[in-house]
Amino acid sequence: MVWICVGTPSQPDGGINLDYVARCVTQIGAALAASPRRPLIVLRSTVLPGTTRGQVIPTLERASGLVVGRDIDLAFHPEFLREGCAVHDFDHPPKIVIGEQRPGGADRLLAAYGGAAGDVGGRYTAPRFRTSLEVAEMVKYSDNLFHAVKVVFANEVGALARAVGADAREVADIFCSDTKLNINPYYLRPGFAFGGSCLPKDLRAMLRLATHSAVSAPMLAGVLESNRALVDAFVARVLAARPRCVGLVGLAFKPNTDDMRESPYVAVAKRLIGEGLELRIYDPGVDPSRLIGANREAVLAALAHLERLLADDLAALDSCDLIVVNHPIVDASRVAAWCRAGKRVLDTVGIKGVEPGPAGYEGIFW
Ligand SMILES: NC(=O)c1ccc[n+]([C@@H]2O[C@H](COP(=O)([O-])OP(=O)(O)OC[C@H]3O[C@@H](n4cnc5c(N)ncnc54)[C@H](O)[C@@H]3O)[C@@H](O)[C@H]2O)c1
Repeated sequence: MVWICVGTPSQPDGGINLDYVARCVTQIGAALAASPRRPLIVLRSTVLPGTTRGQVIPTLERASGLVVGRDIDLAFHPEFLREGCAVHDFDHPPKIVIGEQRPGGADRLLAAYGGAAGDVGGRYTAPRFRTSLEVAEMVKYSDNLFHAVKVVFANEVGALARAVGADAREVADIFCSDTKLNINPYYLRPGFAFGGSCLPKDLRAMLRLATHSAVSAPMLAGVLESNRALVDAFVARVLAARPRCVGLVGLAFKPNTDDMRESPYVAVAKRLIGEGLELRIYDPGVDPSRLIGANREAVLAALAHLERLLADDLAALDSCDLIVVNHPIVDASRVAAWCRAGKRVLDTVGIKGVEPGPAGYEGIFW
C-alpha cells in the first residue's frame, strides 16, 4: 500500500490547501507509470468531502495513465489519532473507517487490520465501516466539528458557572459522570481555547463549504467566535492584574508535543508582548532548533524572538509577578511556593492538588 498523510493546511479563505496532496499524488502517479506494481493507494490526509473523487483520483489518473477502479485501487481512510499519544491512538483507533472508490477495492487495507475479525495482537478491534469516499471524508469532519463544539460548550458553561459562583469543574464532573444522557468526558472539561492543526482548520473548511453550498450553520460559525472570545477575555484578565513580567508555562497547543500551529497560548503570548509586557515562557517540549516547516513558520510569525523568550527551567519564571499555567507540568507545591512569594498564578489547566484558595491563585473558571 501507499499511504498519503501530508498536510492539508488552511488557506487564507478558510478552504484547504491541496498543494501537498497534489504534489504527492503526482509523484506517486509518475512512479506507477514507470512500474508494474499496483499498490493500493490510501489517502489519510483530512480532505473536504468530494476531494478524493473530484481531485485526487483525476490527478492520480493523469500522472499515472492508469484508471482507478480498473487498473489500480484507491481508498480514503480517515485518521483519528491525537497528537501526544499518536502511536497508541493509531494502534487503538476508536473506529476504522474505509471509503472505497469501488466495493471491495480496499480489501488489502482491511486485511492489514486483521481482516473482518480485526485483531492483530489485541489491536484494531474497533468497529469497522466500509463506505463511500464521501461518507468517509465527512465522518472525519463530523468528529472534529463535534470536538470543537464540546470544547466551546465546556468553556461557555465554565464561564457561566464562575459568574454565578458555582465551581465550574464540579459542574463538569457531574455533567460528565452521566454517560447515559450526556456522553463521554473527552473535550468536555472547562479549560482554555482549542487550537492545534486540526480543529480550527477543519471547522473553517466546513464553514467555507457551508457558505458555498448556501447552508446556514450559525452554531458552528459561532464556535470559532466563542473560542476567540475566550482568548480575548483571558488576555484582558491578565492585563487587569497589571503585571510587569508574565511567565507562561506551556506554549504548544497541548503538552508533550511541540506543535504550536494555532496554539491559543501563542496567541496569548503575542498579545501580551504587543501590550508591552515582559514575557518568559517555559515549555520543555519546545526546542527552537528542532522546529520545522509550517509549525516553525507559524510560531516565528507570531513570536519572532521565540528563542529569547524561552526559559530552560521553571526557576527562570521566578522573576515574573504573574504566572499562567497552561500545561499540567507544575505541581501544587510549586504553585504554593509561588503564591507565598507574592506571585499571582492563573491556572488554565487545573493543576491537581492545589488547596482551594491560596492567596494569589486563580483557576480560569474556578
Ligand atoms: N495532526 C493530527 O493530530 C491529525 C489527526 C488526524 C488527521 N490529521 C490530518 O492528517 C494530515 C497530516 O497532518 P499532520 O499534522 O501530520 O501534518 P504535518 O504538516 O505535520 O505533516 C505532514 C508531513 O508531510 C510531509 N510531506 C509533504 N509533502 C510531501 C511529499 N510530497 N512527500 C513526502 N512527504 C511529504 C511534510 O514534510 C510533513 O512532514 C492533515 O490532513 C491533517 O488534517 C492530522
